[in-house]
Amino acid sequence: MVNEFEIKKQICDIGKRIYNRGMVANNDGNISVKISENEFLCTPTGVSKGFMTPEFICKVDATGKVIQANAGFKPSSEIKMHMRVYKERPDVKSVVHAHPMYATAFAIAGIPLTQPIMPEAVIALGCVPIAKYGTPSTNEIPDAVSEYVQYFDAVLLENHGALTFSDSLLAAYNKMESVEFYAQLLYLSRQLGGPKELSDAQVQRLYEIRRQFGMTGKHPANLCPNNKDGKPSCHNCGGKNSCSGNCGGSANASEELVKNITAKVIKELGL
Ligand code: 13P
Repeated sequence: MVNEFEIKKQICDIGKRIYNRGMVANNDGNISVKISENEFLCTPTGVSKGFMTPEFICKVDATGKVIQANAGFKPSSEIKMHMRVYKERPDVKSVVHAHPMYATAFAIAGIPLTQPIMPEAVIALGCVPIAKYGTPSTNEIPDAVSEYVQYFDAVLLENHGALTFSDSLLAAYNKMESVEFYAQLLYLSRQLGGPKELSDAQVQRLYEIRRQFGMTGKHPANLCPNNKDGKPSCHNCGGKNSCSGNCGGSANASEELVKNITAKVIKELGL
């Protein structure tokens, strides 16, 4: 039996962390936790996520409808985005949305985080794609995120921010920290003349470590380009999973990305 009050307190603590780390300004950001198949706790709309107490937290069902909310509090305006992730990823227990400075700058510039520059980012995230722009609070954002939700645990939201999800509240928050740290390092190394990228072989070794650790969630290490045929991914594949050993695993991040974008453009143009 989950202790709802305890989880509400944990949501408030994570709200403080994202606020204190400058990952949100003003009343931005939102957090949710799945407590049963049809019950979710979420932050209320329009409050600073750095100054919440447990009675602020709302309870909704799988459609985002209010089950319980104290007077003066309504669920986050982005609840549809959270609910779409839970619907499409039954393994996910928590979703965090924030506007961390560097990751959001990349999302605004339209640059996904695909360069393999440090082991921790490659192991934790692989890479971070950008879901196309959608108007906040509408189904446009959930629809855009849906394209990536089966392949990644972290997505940039174009001209908006970042979204992370995982099998616990702390893990979803930690992914947000990892995304921001990766984005910050990528930004700074670009100022210093450009990062020295890890080689394909180095990336493959890190992917292998991730597989050996049995890390949960979705990650490019678990994808095979031979099977995904235009599906969004990047970096490369060790060929250890579902392809029958004929995967070269040689495409580098940018080649892979260009291939996917070209496939999308061709599809959209109906060619
Ligand atoms: P809410 O306060 O409604 O959750 O919205 C904050 C936000 O960041 C919207 O993108």
